[in-house]
Amino acid sequence: MILDHLKSQLEGFKAQGLYRHRRVVEKAHGMGAFSDGHPVVNFCANDYLGLSGHPKVVQALMHGAEIYGVGSGASHLVTGHGPAHHALEEELADFCGRERALLFSTGYMANLGVIASFLGRGDWVLADRLNHASLVDGVLLSHAQLKRYHHADVAELKTLLDRCPPKGKMIITDGVFSMDGDLAPLPELVKLAEKAKAWLMVDDAHGFGVVGSTGRGVVEHFGLDVAAVPLLVGTLGKAFGTFGAFVAGDYDVIEYLIHRCRPYIYTTALPPAIAEATRASLRLVINETWRRDKLRTLIERFRSGASQLGLQLLPSTTPIQPIMIGDNYRVTQASQRLQELGFLVAAIRPPTVPEGTARLRVTLSAIHEEQDVDRLLEGLGNAVI
Ligand SMILES: Cc1ncc(COP(=O)(O)O)c(C=O)c1O
Repeated sequence: MILDHLKSQLEGFKAQGLYRHRRVVEKAHGMGAFSDGHPVVNFCANDYLGLSGHPKVVQALMHGAEIYGVGSGASHLVTGHGPAHHALEEELADFCGRERALLFSTGYMANLGVIASFLGRGDWVLADRLNHASLVDGVLLSHAQLKRYHHADVAELKTLLDRCPPKGKMIITDGVFSMDGDLAPLPELVKLAEKAKAWLMVDDAHGFGVVGSTGRGVVEHFGLDVAAVPLLVGTLGKAFGTFGAFVAGDYDVIEYLIHRCRPYIYTTALPPAIAEATRASLRLVINETWRRDKLRTLIERFRSGASQLGLQLLPSTTPIQPIMIGDNYRVTQASQRLQELGFLVAAIRPPTVPEGTARLRVTLSAIHEEQDVDRLLEGLGNAVI
C-alpha cells in the first residue's frame, strides 16, 4: 500500500518536471569539478570565498584529526565539548561582537533548536514567505502560530504585528535570501520589532563572510547595533568553507540553549578537527579582504553581462545571482545544456521556490576568474536564450 503510494507520487513528480536527480560531483582544482564525469566549472556552490579547499584550512583539519582523532565521541554536555570547540565559540562570538556563541552540527539543527527552545503554543512567529525551510520547520516544531508576510513586505508585517496577541512574538528572517540573493529589509524590521516588543531572529547563513565591509554579515552591512538583533544564526558550510553552524547572542540566551535546546543537547558534537579547520578559515575571512573585493568585481561583471544578454536577474548584490526561467522543464534542460558546455549550475524548482519561479541559481566565488564568468555568460546565452 505505502509503496504503491510512493510510486505514484514519484510518477507525479516526473509528470510535473519536479523529479530530482543527484549528480555525483567530484571536486577538482579551484572551482573545477567533475559532474557525473563531465569536467565543469562549479557555479552553484556556496563556497563564496573559495575557502573549502584552502591549504591552511585543509592543514588545520588534518592537524586537528591528528591531535583529537576524528569523532568527538559524545554530545557537548557529556564529553564531546573540547578545546577546539570552545576556542572556536569564543572566536565566533568575538567576530560577531556578541557575548557568546554556541556551535551546532548544522544550520538546519540550529534553526530548529533556537525557535523551538524559545517559542511554544500560543506564541506568534512573523516570517518572510521566502525564509529557508529550516526556519519554517523550526516554527512547526515549536507549535507556535506561523504568520507569513509577502517577501520583504514591511507594511504587511506591521499589520500582522498590530493584530498579534501580547504573548511571545518573534520576527524571523533570512539575512540574505538563499534562493534570491537579496537582503532582508533589516533596519525596518528592527524598528518594527522594537516598537512591537517582538524578538528578532536573523539567519545570516549566506551573509557571514561575504556581506558587510569586514564580512560580518547583514548586521554590519546596515550599520545596526548588535542589540537590535538578539538572535543571530550563522552557518559554517558556506563562506567559511567547512561545516556546522552557530548561534550568537547574550550570555543568558546561550546559557538557556545549553539547558533546553534539544538539537544541541541530544546529538554528537561536531568533529573537533572541523572546529580547528573553521578557526583557520575564520582567520582567512577576517584577514584576506581581497576575497570580498574580488567577489564584488565578479558580481558586477556577471550582472552587467547577463543584462546585456537580456537574462532575467533579481535585485541581488550578493554572490547569489539567480536567472529566472519560470518553467520546470525549461530550467532542467538549461541546466543540462550548461553541464554539457562545462558549467555546473543547479536548476532550482518548487517546492524550494514558489510555483512558476523555477530558476538557475548561479553563485559566484572569489576563486572564479573573470574569464570563467565571461565563459559562463557565453554558455548562458547558448543554453537559455
Ligand atoms: C538560509 C539558510 N539557513 C540554514 C541553512 C542550513 O544550513 P546547513 O546546511 O548548515 O544545515 C541553509 C542552507 O543549507 C540556508 O540557506
